[in-house]
Amino acid sequence: KKISIVGVPCDYGQQRRGVDMGPSAIRYAGLQQRLTNLGYEVEDEGNIQVIEGDAAAQKDEKLLNLEEVIKVNTALAEKVFNVVKKDYIPLVLGGDHSIAIGTLAGLSMKYKNQGVIWFDAHADLNTPETTPSGNIHGMPLATSIGLGHQRLTSILHAEPKIKAENIVIIGGRSIDEGERELIKTRGIKIYTMHEIDRLGMTYVMEETLKYFKQLQIDGLHLSLDLDALDPLYTPGVGTPVAGGITYRESHLAMEMIQESGLMTSAEFVEVNPILDERNKTADVAVALIGSLFGETLV
Ligand code: ARG
Ligand code: MN
Ligand code: MN
Ligand code: MN
Repeated sequence: KKISIVGVPCDYGQQRRGVDMGPSAIRYAGLQQRLTNLGYEVEDEGNIQVIEGDAAAQKDEKLLNLEEVIKVNTALAEKVFNVVKKDYIPLVLGGDHSIAIGTLAGLSMKYKNQGVIWFDAHADLNTPETTPSGNIHGMPLATSIGLGHQRLTSILHAEPKIKAENIVIIGGRSIDEGERELIKTRGIKIYTMHEIDRLGMTYVMEETLKYFKQLQIDGLHLSLDLDALDPLYTPGVGTPVAGGITYRESHLAMEMIQESGLMTSAEFVEVNPILDERNKTADVAVALIGSLFGETLV
């Protein structure tokens, strides 16, 4: 089994600096060794170049740093496509969550019926019309089902990158009005903190994985925003929301995804070392990646 690490030092999808150092922080927390110890062949592809655009040319008032976000995601999509072409598992490190636009675009070239687990406090289903912030990291899931700015939805190709019914959001607890509407009208599956409290993480993951098997997906992508966890465990994120998933629950979820044998790619985003406490959030990211790729306690 072979894994390709792709770093994306992008902070243009939101307004707090420092999340561009996420890939370094995660690597520094011992990522490569952790995966090598599990018997994987690991190739580090380095970072996608993030190019600053011409500030004077930025005239879209609704979408902040649109040009930069388009550029980085186009380059990322091509890279991810190359990684899957040579049969490596892409492991993408963010950067803010806007980079899921490029990851999913690249994956869509190979997987025509891919499932997505969106592990996040947020739904990231805003569009230019509904966004409360103008931040593109609040829009990648909407973009990937074909909604939003045409230049974002048409990266690599014009088709939607995933089907709305192939999405399962886990950990939601800060959902905007427009996002609620989309969840209802598009039939997007979501387990909020309420369901996790009530049903337990084991049940939630069993149902999620059963659902994907029923859909006969040809690939499963995990997009994990570290703010899905409670800020107690992952303080180094730009948009923390209290009342999140615990350390143990999140590990359990990773282990169950691994056990299912369905996972074909993953990304870990929103690690901001400037806001962190002694690289705690990157350490948690690496520990979760360990469980996701097959570490067990004995
Ligand atoms: N819903 C808010 C917005 O659209 C927050 C999004 C936070 N997204 C994230 N990937 N952390 O601005
Ligand atoms: Mn920067
Ligand atoms: Mn989030
Ligand atoms: Mn997110």
